[in-house]
Amino acid sequence: MNTEKILENLKKQLKTHNQTHILAFLDQLDAAQQENLLRQIQQLDFKKIDGWVANYVKNSTPPAIPAGFVPAPFYPSIPTNPAQETKYAKARELGRELISGGKVAAFVVAGGQGTRLGFDGPKGNFAISPVKNKTLFQIFAENIAAVSNKYHASCPWYIMTSPLNYAATLEILRSNNYYGLNKKDIFIFQQGTLPNFGFEGRVLMADKADIACSPDGHGGSLLALYKSGAVENMKKRGVEFISYFQVDNPLINIFDQLFIGLHALDRAQMSSKALIKTGPKEKLGNFCLVDGRVNVIEYSDLPDEMAEKKNPDGSLVFELGSIAIHIINTSFIERLNSKGFSLPLHKAIKKILHIDEKGKLIQPDQPNGVKLESFVFDALPLASNSIILETVRSEEFGPVKNATGVDSAETARQMIIARAARWLESAGVNIPRKPDGSVDCVIEIASSFAVEKEDIQGKLAQVPQIKAGDKIYLA
Ligand code: UD1
Repeated sequence: MNTEKILENLKKQLKTHNQTHILAFLDQLDAAQQENLLRQIQQLDFKKIDGWVANYVKNSTPPAIPAGFVPAPFYPSIPTNPAQETKYAKARELGRELISGGKVAAFVVAGGQGTRLGFDGPKGNFAISPVKNKTLFQIFAENIAAVSNKYHASCPWYIMTSPLNYAATLEILRSNNYYGLNKKDIFIFQQGTLPNFGFEGRVLMADKADIACSPDGHGGSLLALYKSGAVENMKKRGVEFISYFQVDNPLINIFDQLFIGLHALDRAQMSSKALIKTGPKEKLGNFCLVDGRVNVIEYSDLPDEMAEKKNPDGSLVFELGSIAIHIINTSFIERLNSKGFSLPLHKAIKKILHIDEKGKLIQPDQPNGVKLESFVFDALPLASNSIILETVRSEEFGPVKNATGVDSAETARQMIIARAARWLESAGVNIPRKPDGSVDCVIEIASSFAVEKEDIQGKLAQVPQIKAGDKIYLA
């Protein structure tokens, strides 16, 4: 079809869907810009857009929570009876086998913009370790290298970026020589985007030649893993299980034998780790069961009386919080994509830079539009089997979200030090502590020294005497 015909068709389509403004400045663009804009329009699905405008952009009623939800069952962090003990031992063994067999891949979602942290550039490049100032990416890479070494396997690492931080992420990895990992074991790809909307439902224009778009949320990973060829690459390597984690958690235990093993033993397709919430209002999604399937209900959607409901022993009925750690089967992602699937979208009202109908750039100081995202945990109900494993916060969850205060770099560094201290103490090392019990030195344990606390016993000869105020790095 020639360009004129294409243009004519697009104009008709835009008119039907009330989006003619997208081409308002076409005459002012050069040939390359015109072609680029037409390509962007062709990629939009206007039927879907009409649905999004009606259901999310213009609709201000909060999403309905599913009827008849009950708390989801879970595996406790420590087995509570002999049968469970036996199962956990079996799961650990299976987990070890699967890791050694190269069947497990690390997968970090790193497409977010990290605005709350106020850090310029990909969040994975944020320096966090307390002695060596290693970045999040370096910590993950060293963990993957150490696990590969320990299990005599080459564990691959898949990294999802957004179109906004893809080039910068690639450059960080390249200039750091992939932190010593083999380049062929790293696969970096981009997630998709979704258009941004004005409150009246018009697709916003970033400038005269570009539609304003933003990353499609971490739920976009389930599409992007497939479309980018990552799943195909996994299949070629024999990877069956994807260990999904967020870029902001330096304490992540990427290759957890128990979690992987329980997931595989129970023939689950997508599983989750959970924490017992600190209180009814902790800002974590809540694990629930709806019609026998695991669902996460956002903290903001759980009615107060449900959030505060207690069991006779005083514990919360909905006590399990989601920390965005999952095991996902490659076959599950393939199945979803081959059948065609869509996750619900979530709406965020934001300040969005755009041009107005006269072509003037608007830099809003108040929220002026809607961004849409999908969330990966919304795929849980699509899994026919799904397990939840409780984990211990101080061992595995120290997210770096904010510049200061709760979930900040400072709290994460303290958690890294406290965990290192506990691991060393468990092997009999004496750690100086202040009268209030907090650790009175700075310790950093590299994954090359210990991937888990059990690794320390064999390396005690390398641990020096630790005095108050010392800075200790073990590698
Ligand atoms: C998220 C979870 C919350 C969980 C918490 C744990 C949601 C809605 N909430 O909150 O349930 O308890 O983490 O720390 O998910 N990302 C992309 N592409 C995107 C958007 C995000 O890759 O388009 C990645 C980010 O890089 C990050 C992760 O997803 O690694 C989480 O994103 P973020 O927006 O920071 O989630 P939170 O609101 O902190």
